[in-house]
Amino acid sequence: MSNYHIKQFEEYFQVYRKSVRNPEQFWEEIAEEHFIWKKKWSNVLSYDFSKAEFKWFEDAKLNITENCLDRHLHTKGDKTALLFEPNNPEEEAEHITYRQLHERVCKFANVLKDKGIKKGDVVCIYLPMIPELAISVLACARIGAIHSVIFAGFSSTAVSSRINDCNAKMVITSDGSYRGSKTIDLKGIVDEALKDTPGIESVLVAKRIHSEINMEEGRDFWLEPLLEEAYADCAAEVMDAEDPLFILYTSGSTGKPKGMVHTIGGYMVYTAYTFKNVFQYRDNDVYWCTADIGWITGHSYIVYGPLANGATSVMFEGVPSYPDYGRFWDIVEKHKVTQFYTAPTAIRALAKQGAEFVEKYDLSSLKVLGSVGEPINEEAWHWYDENVGKKKSPIVDTWWQTETGGIMITPIPFSTPTKPTYATLPFIGIQPALMDENGEEIKGNQVEGRLCIKFPWPAMARTIWGNHQRYKDTYFSAYDNKYFTGDGALRDEVGYYRITGRVDDVIIVSGHNLGTAPIEDAINEHPAVSESAIVGFPHDIKGNALYGYVTLKDVGESRNHDNLRMEINQLITDRIGPIAKLDKVQFTEGLPKTRSGKIMRRILRKIAANEIDQLGDTSTLLNPEVVQHIIDNVK
Ligand code: PRX
Repeated sequence: MSNYHIKQFEEYFQVYRKSVRNPEQFWEEIAEEHFIWKKKWSNVLSYDFSKAEFKWFEDAKLNITENCLDRHLHTKGDKTALLFEPNNPEEEAEHITYRQLHERVCKFANVLKDKGIKKGDVVCIYLPMIPELAISVLACARIGAIHSVIFAGFSSTAVSSRINDCNAKMVITSDGSYRGSKTIDLKGIVDEALKDTPGIESVLVAKRIHSEINMEEGRDFWLEPLLEEAYADCAAEVMDAEDPLFILYTSGSTGKPKGMVHTIGGYMVYTAYTFKNVFQYRDNDVYWCTADIGWITGHSYIVYGPLANGATSVMFEGVPSYPDYGRFWDIVEKHKVTQFYTAPTAIRALAKQGAEFVEKYDLSSLKVLGSVGEPINEEAWHWYDENVGKKKSPIVDTWWQTETGGIMITPIPFSTPTKPTYATLPFIGIQPALMDENGEEIKGNQVEGRLCIKFPWPAMARTIWGNHQRYKDTYFSAYDNKYFTGDGALRDEVGYYRITGRVDDVIIVSGHNLGTAPIEDAINEHPAVSESAIVGFPHDIKGNALYGYVTLKDVGESRNHDNLRMEINQLITDRIGPIAKLDKVQFTEGLPKTRSGKIMRRILRKIAANEIDQLGDTSTLLNPEVVQHIIDNVK
């Protein structure tokens, strides 16, 4: 018997030991007993860290949608698979059963085929959190098309660059989206993006806000009439375990976003297995992850992981503050949510509003609380524990990344004793290592270093779309035979991990991963700007906010700085999206640089955080005088 469901701490240790002593045998048992395959693998795992090549369940054949849908039809056909809670609380929630979801996915898959989408084609999905988003993701998987979901808060420039990077043939979008009391013209953003995307052949448009939009003859098609006519059965394409399932872009510290490629077999096994254990999901539970499917959390823990377990997964279209700050708790009460998974930034924003918004609602259904996306600070952890969990629901602080596909370091609720701000212990099969500056592994406890993983796991990304070299350089070159996460971590006296944050130039703002380079590129496009540097600084709700140091071309020029700030933020909104806007912009005569010309961000970070007494030695800089100038002119 495999150990699919871990219920005790002792069992965790036993299973963990088994999983690292003989990973192949361990994952083979899990894969064999809990999933359906059309053909078994010839080899469980082959890998070569030096080439950054990893294969799990090689030669196996399957379709992930048969695991997420078809196999539940006999036993759970009438169970709610997706529970859609609309933006407007007055609008009725929609319960989509496994049978209905299967039918809607098949119909959608047939529409894709009718529009010429074949196995291996890339389809971009730019949709709000409405059922069509999950359905279109699964429809792609049904026919072997590769989905590339773009978060519907990204700008037209970000959309077109992602479309072109992966050579997508089709975009799926909607006439618009609701966001609290606002509507957003998604189709308008797509139209703008498509001015520059020669590969796009068709656009499918779901109706959501019923606005008047432009439909380009021969290119754009309303989805609903096509679905109405589509046949309700669609054979699942036979896929190889190592075929790509999806591409998802994440920011890097340099250059353009990285299209992380996840493949089918290992991703399925790992997301399903982590979901079952990290949330201790049981048959009648109602699980809710508040993330957007535009991020990895939504892919793995709204769609694939829950559905592979036959779970009921809530999809929420709206925002935590609409119609008021009690909305999350209203939904928990209304649908009797049992597992609730959110981000520290949301917890901090809600905590700030006071307890009365929480106290109004009956949260007694909750059993497990989750946190993801950034380090959770102690205050937020306790607020969550006391006000939401009433000190009886364990908090699982789950550390993982777009690249890891699934949760990597986490408590197992009711087993692992939790500790505020600690993600605690590695999940089954995960072998973390802390590395020092010289590339040596730091052994023992009460140590701090750079977090690596020293053995492959099934859900790891396999490459960066179209750029394997970058994949290798970014993740496998810093340390031999290890995956480098980009995060720092400490290990306490009992071996619990606490993630301390990024050690590269990625900044996590409200749980969103933002690379400094693309933002600086956007700022530098402004005709008045000569150079810029972005750093993060502590923010009580967002975790980090962005601080931009900008030098202007003509220092003598007396342009209105407030106008310039607005123009710079508009450029960032246009090129990336509003999530990357700067909270502070300081105009400066220069940026502190090393003698080789590299910007010393460490110093800028300290100034932004108001830790001027901790600047360290600045005398070796090329231009030490600039530091004082910056300090004197902090806004
Ligand atoms: O720095 C870590 C932080 O988020 C990064 C990954 O971001 P992304 O790929 O967007 O995926 C987010 C959702 C899985 C990590 O490198 N991070 C994520 N979870 C945690 C975290 N930092 C601390 N604690 C966490 N629980």
